[in-house]
Amino acid sequence: MSNMIIDKDGVRRYVVSITVNGDEYTKMVKSNTLLVNFLRDALDLTGTKKGCELGDCGSCTVLLDGKTPINSCLMLAVEADGREFITVEGVASHEKLDHIQEKFIEHGALQCGYCTPGMILSAKALLTRNPKPTEHEVREAIAGNLCRCTGYINIIKAIMDASGQEIPM
Ligand code: FES
Ligand code: FES
Repeated sequence: MSNMIIDKDGVRRYVVSITVNGDEYTKMVKSNTLLVNFLRDALDLTGTKKGCELGDCGSCTVLLDGKTPINSCLMLAVEADGREFITVEGVASHEKLDHIQEKFIEHGALQCGYCTPGMILSAKALLTRNPKPTEHEVREAIAGNLCRCTGYINIIKAIMDASGQEIPM
């Protein structure tokens, strides 16, 4: 466990150092602060969305160690101490959208956009470990990301197209 102090209100707080999108942040957190709230409230990285806070919707997806999608509502900030994460803010580079983001726009793979950061990160993780996935593998990779708007077809098309493969009809 990280270094602990008791603040003036008698609340236990812990010092955590967490690297996000290549930048290291050292902050005080409560023992029950969720990683998703740490990202949004302490770091102002509000691209990571909160939905169910139960691990069911995937809107809070971030990449652990740059490659593994996790639900940031299921990890405490104190558990994330010393770890590295990529959020959707770290996907684009120098204000240029990532290839996958461009394909989402091209295929109309977003409507309200609430699921999109999580979808993009799940797709990013998939194409990093498997640059030529099958349609089935794409469906599996985004199975934990719920979308209430698009019906998924355009999302699957966007990811297949981003992999340079034929787009399923
Ligand atoms: S908010 Fe984390 S899975 Fe729904
Ligand atoms: S675009 Fe609205 S939830 Fe997916």
